[in-house]
Amino acid sequence: MTAPAHPHASILVVDDEEVIRDVLAALLDRQGGYDVHLAEGALDAERILASRPIDLVLLDLMLPGVSGLELLRGIRSDDPQREVIMMTAHGSVETAVEAMKAGAFHYLTKPFQNDEVLLLVDSALTRRRLRRENEGLRRALAERHRFARLIGRSRAMQQVYQVIKQVASARTTVLITGESGTGKELTAEAIHQTGVGADSPFLTVNSSNLPQELLESELFGHARGAFTGAVTDKEGLFAAAAGGTLFFDEISTIPLPVQAKLLRVMQEKEFLPLGSVRPVRVDVRILAATNEDLARLVREGQFRDDLYYRLNVLTIALPSLRERREDIPLLAEHFLATFCDEHGRPGLRLSVEALQEFDRYEWPGNVRELRNSIERAVLLTESDIIDVASLPAEIRRHRGGASGAPALPEGKSLQEAVEEYERTLIRWARQQAEGVQRRAAERLQIKPTTLSEKMKRLGIR
Ligand SMILES: Nc1ncnc2c1ncn2[C@@H]1O[C@H](COP(=O)(O)OP(=O)(O)OP(=O)(O)O)[C@@H](O)[C@H]1O
Ligand SMILES: [Mg+2]
Repeated sequence: MTAPAHPHASILVVDDEEVIRDVLAALLDRQGGYDVHLAEGALDAERILASRPIDLVLLDLMLPGVSGLELLRGIRSDDPQREVIMMTAHGSVETAVEAMKAGAFHYLTKPFQNDEVLLLVDSALTRRRLRRENEGLRRALAERHRFARLIGRSRAMQQVYQVIKQVASARTTVLITGESGTGKELTAEAIHQTGVGADSPFLTVNSSNLPQELLESELFGHARGAFTGAVTDKEGLFAAAAGGTLFFDEISTIPLPVQAKLLRVMQEKEFLPLGSVRPVRVDVRILAATNEDLARLVREGQFRDDLYYRLNVLTIALPSLRERREDIPLLAEHFLATFCDEHGRPGLRLSVEALQEFDRYEWPGNVRELRNSIERAVLLTESDIIDVASLPAEIRRHRGGASGAPALPEGKSLQEAVEEYERTLIRWARQQAEGVQRRAAERLQIKPTTLSEKMKRLGIR
């Protein structure tokens, strides 16, 4: 026999028949050079699995008192990459099929041939090794393309990471803008975690739908008797976040009178709890997010200009997902791994066609929409591959017809459709030109000034 193909691999044999255990132990130990452990039943097996790393389990389907299938599921959910080979004495094909569906690598029918056992064990261990290497690679790749919980390797995201690093230690106020689902909250978290005061609280203000008085007491707290119902003193978010960060999720929903108070805290670093005459000093970093155009709200008189200028000192504008399409496969893989884990579906993959659909789609709901689409697909897909059929209808609808002939997107005018196409092409050209305007214009065969005009008209930054 040549050197073992899987040195140090450890195998657990679970069978109630002593003869089988002995035969397998001798065979695997002597001929394969594996580290072999033996268990008589489920309890034994669980004890061994809990106490040492086991790469492969040879599991008898017909253990007395337990369902081999249930044991199989338990073994796999503990460590989805651990391989299991089922053994059955009765050649019951249905159960074997069930076992394969539940994630078993293969099955052996007793009585078995020695070569057959060794061959199967070898290929199961090979699959385990490949999967682990794969996962390791994926992780290493993911680490390089992420910042805190933000994922993305596009230039646009790299720039975002850069700005986060620059602003994090300064404790300045930062305004985070971007469409819904682009990661504003994750960005706020990343700023907090990177900067000084990372151990202090990070608290979020969800101001929408709150009546003004409630919001004020939420923020600044109140003294006993400040209003009906205020039976005790209450600490507000500003006091609770002392030394840390207060994140205003959708700052545009703050009513004007509260905006005035907010501005005062930012300038004076102190505030008055409702019904109190004693100002409280605080050191809280303010982060704010919006997907509204605050400048427009200022013009319309719905947002205070002085607060706007105060907030707007430093802005992080998050790119929409369609402006950074090169991140889609990375994000898709990340969410796939997350939901495969969460829903116990190891080994699910995305088909090439599904990825192509992702690449074409506009993603109005940005990363959140991608995340939700993948979770849904993981839940819907029965085979090992997520195909176009398990994607939400909006994504599939964007496919060209079978003839490949273009069609006007539903609910759009010719003008809108043309503008959308122009936007896509301009984005493509800019990406190709790595942001150099003159080169992008060359690609499109138009003058740089024409490109600038078009971009302004189409609202491309
Ligand atoms: N760059 C990213 N990497 C990984 N996950 C992301 C990224 N951006 C967003 N997500 C995920 O997408 C979802 C939405 O993100 P988040 O809540 O930060 O968006 P938002 O901009 O605050 O959206 P909204 O305007 O609707 O409040 C979350 O599940 C988040 O984990
Ligand atoms: Mg948000």
